[in-house]
Amino acid sequence: MYLKKLKIGEIELENNIILAPMAGITDLPFRLICKSYGAGAVCTEMVSAKALMYGDEKTKLLLHTKKEEKPVVVQIFGSDIEAMKIASKQVEDIADIIDINMGCPAPKVVKNGDGSKLLLNTDLAVNIAREVVDTVSKPVTVKIRKGWDRNNIVYEELGKRLEEVRSKSNNNSSEELEKNTLAESVI
Ligand SMILES: Cc1cc2nc3c(=O)[nH]c(=O)nc-3n(C[C@H](O)[C@H](O)[C@H](O)COP(=O)(O)O)c2cc1C
Repeated sequence: MYLKKLKIGEIELENNIILAPMAGITDLPFRLICKSYGAGAVCTEMVSAKALMYGDEKTKLLLHTKKEEKPVVVQIFGSDIEAMKIASKQVEDIADIIDINMGCPAPKVVKNGDGSKLLLNTDLAVNIAREVVDTVSKPVTVKIRKGWDRNNIVYEELGKRLEEVRSKSNNNSSEELEKNTLAESVI
C-alpha cells in the first residue's frame, strides 16, 4: 500500500488513509480506535442538516468529538440549502474538514431528496456545495457515487462542476482562488 502525506485545503494529514463515514459505526470510540491504529483522518457518521437546524439533542450527540482524534471530518447531509448553511456553520468549530454526503442510497434519506438523490439534480448539488463553501472557512469535501443509476451516471460532469466551486470570500487574487477551489479537497 502506498502511504503518503495528504493536504486537504490547509489541513495536513499524516497519511492518505481516511476512515470512511459509516452511520451506526463511526462513533467516537470507533474513531479513536482507528486513529490509534494510524488513520490519517477519521470521519463522523452522517449528520442530518435539518436535525441540526432544529436542535435535535440525539443528533448533537453524534458531534461529540475529542482532540485526540483530530483531524476529524464531520459529514452532513441534506438538500435544503438553508439547512445546509446553518448546519455547516454549527459544525465548523468541531470539524477540521466538512464533508457533504451526496452518495447515501438509504430509502429514508433519498425519499427527502437527500444523499444520492442529489445526483439526479446536479444544479442543486453544485449550489449546495457553493453555499456551504461560502458559509464556512474550513475545507469542504463532497462524497459522491457514480450516479443515481446506470442511466444517470454523473460523476464526471458533477466532479468537474464541483472542482469549479470557489469561495466568494476568498476571490481577491487568482492565487487565493486556486487555493480555495473545492477541487483540491474532493475525496
Ligand atoms: C454500515 C455502513 C454505513 C455507512 N454510512 C455512511 C454514511 O453515513 N455516509 C457515507 O457517505 N457513506 C456511508 N457508507 C458508505 C461507506 O462510507 C463506503 O463508501 C462504502 O462502504 C464503500 O466502501 P467499501 O468499498 O470500502 O466498503 C456506509 C457504509 C456502511 C457499510
